Amino acid sequence: MSNSAIKVAPSILASDFSRLGEEIQAVTDAGADWLHIDVMDGMYTSNITIGIPVVASLRAHCTIPMDVHLMIEDPGRYVKDFADAGADIITFHPEAARHPHRVLTAIKDAGCKAGLVLSPGIPEDDIEYLVDGVDLVLIMTVNPGFGGQAFIPEMLRKIQNVRAMIGDRDVEVDGGIDDRTAPAVIEAGGNILVAGSYVFKSPSYLEAIETLKNSAP
Ligand code: DX5
Ligand code: ZN
Repeated sequence: MSNSAIKVAPSILASDFSRLGEEIQAVTDAGADWLHIDVMDGMYTSNITIGIPVVASLRAHCTIPMDVHLMIEDPGRYVKDFADAGADIITFHPEAARHPHRVLTAIKDAGCKAGLVLSPGIPEDDIEYLVDGVDLVLIMTVNPGFGGQAFIPEMLRKIQNVRAMIGDRDVEVDGGIDDRTAPAVIEAGGNILVAGSYVFKSPSYLEAIETLKNSAP
């Protein structure tokens, strides 16, 4: 995987929510490729974060693709709303949907890129019959719910397996990504790195994003 193929998607969960527009401008200026937006409903996750009106108001401030990660029960209910709000990419957890194939179709029909997310306890085999229609797979390397958690190294094997499953499509990795964990993630086959704390808690967003992009071992 060449360095130029590595994309960084800062997760705004770790940003200063009182200055969200400025934060987005700052990471965009620092070279962010996608903006990762974590939507949590207090049901699939214990935490509650961002909803449709916030995504809609961010659209005007955001010149890079908005990558909306739905950590919600029954995600199909809200696909159209998030697409209308300006999402470019919508990913969801298949076990939170009764009919995940139908949700994938709804995301595509709404004009967005579609992706499945694998929580740490969900094996890649669960998506064997769903991956044909996906643009990307997101592998979580922490449990959904919060930023700032420790990377789970057992997920590296899952990243390798998903890379083998989906060829040259995007393999996004989310949770505990920093300068120490990124090299192994890239080596395993990840090419889109989501990073919340590492970028937004860094004194230089530019340096943090550059470091991740150049962390191929
Ligand atoms: C966790 C979220 C992540 C989170 C990552 O449920 O999906 O996107 O913001 O945060 P860090 O990079 O701090 O682990
Ligand atoms: Zn996320």
